[in-house]
Amino acid sequence: MLSIALPKGRIAKETLEIFEKIFGEEFKFEDRKLILQTDGFKFLLVRNQDVPSYVLHQAADIGVVGLDVLEEKDEDLVRLLDLGIGKCKVCVGACVDKELDYSLPEITIATKMSNITQKFFSKKAMGVKIIKLYGSIELAPLVGLSDAIVDIVETGDTMRQNGLKVVETIMDSSAHLIANKNSFIEKKDEIISLYEKISKILE
Ligand code: PRP
Repeated sequence: MLSIALPKGRIAKETLEIFEKIFGEEFKFEDRKLILQTDGFKFLLVRNQDVPSYVLHQAADIGVVGLDVLEEKDEDLVRLLDLGIGKCKVCVGACVDKELDYSLPEITIATKMSNITQKFFSKKAMGVKIIKLYGSIELAPLVGLSDAIVDIVETGDTMRQNGLKVVETIMDSSAHLIANKNSFIEKKDEIISLYEKISKILE
């Protein structure tokens, strides 16, 4: 039995569709239930940012999570496979009419992703003041809370509709299959077998 942490929303849905294709049965969470128990798997529905914690502490053997979250959390996990779903970018964004001055001694950035932001501006040898937010990041520069943002861009609609532009792309992201290090030893055969089945479907 493998337990699998999935991030609520579209990635969970698309991951379950991959499992349906492989095993020829329906995998669907009932209404508001957060656990889906089948013959071979126990699926857990968690918040995207929480997937690494469930897997790190072995509450789940494996998980599916965006590379952006993996980079941000930087936990000691086994990265197995890029599922190629949930594609997006992590970008620096600013108001369309504003030129970002990278020569400033310090820039104020609103973001959910403090670590990615810190690393990115450190590499540029720039001081950064981070304002940690939990959502609606695009609002911050519009009302003077920050000079710019670091956030996920998928279609680009949220930035566009709020008068923001992408200044620079920090990284590309997509959903990855990850495993707990102990589970990867204890349940190696099961995990490798699943890994091979998923790789085959993705080809
Ligand atoms: C994410 C992200 C952007 C938006 C980007 O927010 O933080 O706001 O999606 O998508 P787009 O480029 O297709 O417009 P999410 O929907 O997760 O909500 P949040 O504001 O609560 O983070």
